[in-house]
Amino acid sequence: MSTRLQRLDHLLLTSILTAVCGSDPTPEAPTEDTLLSPSHPVEGDKGLRMLLLQAVLLLLVLPSHGQDTTTKEPGVVPALPSGVCSGWMAGIPGHPGHNGIPGRDGRDGTPGEKGEKGDEGLAGPKGDPGKSGVPGLEGPRGFPGDQGRKGDPGESAYVYRSAFSVGLETRVTVSNVPIRFTKIFYNQQNHYDGSTGKFHCNIPGLYYFSYHITVYLKDVKVSLYKNDKAVLFTFDQYQDKDLDQASSSVLLHLEMGDQVWLQVYGTGEHNGIYADNVNDSTFTGFLLYHDTN
Ligand SMILES: *[C@@H]1O[C@H](CO)[C@@H](O)[C@H](O)[C@H]1NC(C)=O
Repeated sequence: MSTRLQRLDHLLLTSILTAVCGSDPTPEAPTEDTLLSPSHPVEGDKGLRMLLLQAVLLLLVLPSHGQDTTTKEPGVVPALPSGVCSGWMAGIPGHPGHNGIPGRDGRDGTPGEKGEKGDEGLAGPKGDPGKSGVPGLEGPRGFPGDQGRKGDPGESAYVYRSAFSVGLETRVTVSNVPIRFTKIFYNQQNHYDGSTGKFHCNIPGLYYFSYHITVYLKDVKVSLYKNDKAVLFTFDQYQDKDLDQASSSVLLHLEMGDQVWLQVYGTGEHNGIYADNVNDSTFTGFLLYHDTN
């Protein structure tokens, strides 16, 4: 194969030289010569066309020829035909050149068409609570509830109780001392002392006092005392063969330990205070309400 190519190359070179120099360099190869080139010098346009055709064929064949010569027989050049034009010498085919440096970057392309709409994203985080709405209308009145349980017993009211009601059993004959009422109608708390005729305040608060005195034989001047001081005065003038009534009442605020009693006041004979089985003289007092502070 290589030999055949070399012979073909040789034939082409010979044809070129013939066209350039105007002589036939290969008279000894008539058979092949007649196939590829005219055996005689050509004239005019026909000769030029043949020359160009041969040059093209030479260029197509040369690469394989160069490879063969470099790999198998370096340095060996096929023998040129004798009688060529003086001064011409065929050069050795050069090696393939190195790759050139990369070219500059191209210009940016035109923007592509708009893509299709993407999928819907994930739901975002829960937002902050909104503002409170306006209050609604008042609802209808409900049904009455069940009766509640009975409450616990309250503080005993007994400690806030203070009352007495007493009367005379005999007429009074002594002045300037507390009148002793010994007929006891009521004295459950024993705040009234029958031995002294004095009421002792055990519960601070407002007290009501009243007395109804039967007057007989003498005038009566009687006072209600509070702690050795007369605060209330009653005067009755006795008339012959009559029975009179002297009475009064009062509200007093008492502190713990205060004492209240009835006593004939003034000088003279004013001790007509009387009582028997069917005519009474009474003295009454009770706590209206106690202090809360
Ligand atoms: C007391 O009153 C009665 C009538 O109720 C009378 O008969 C009696 O005598 C009276 N006592 C005096 C001292 O008047």
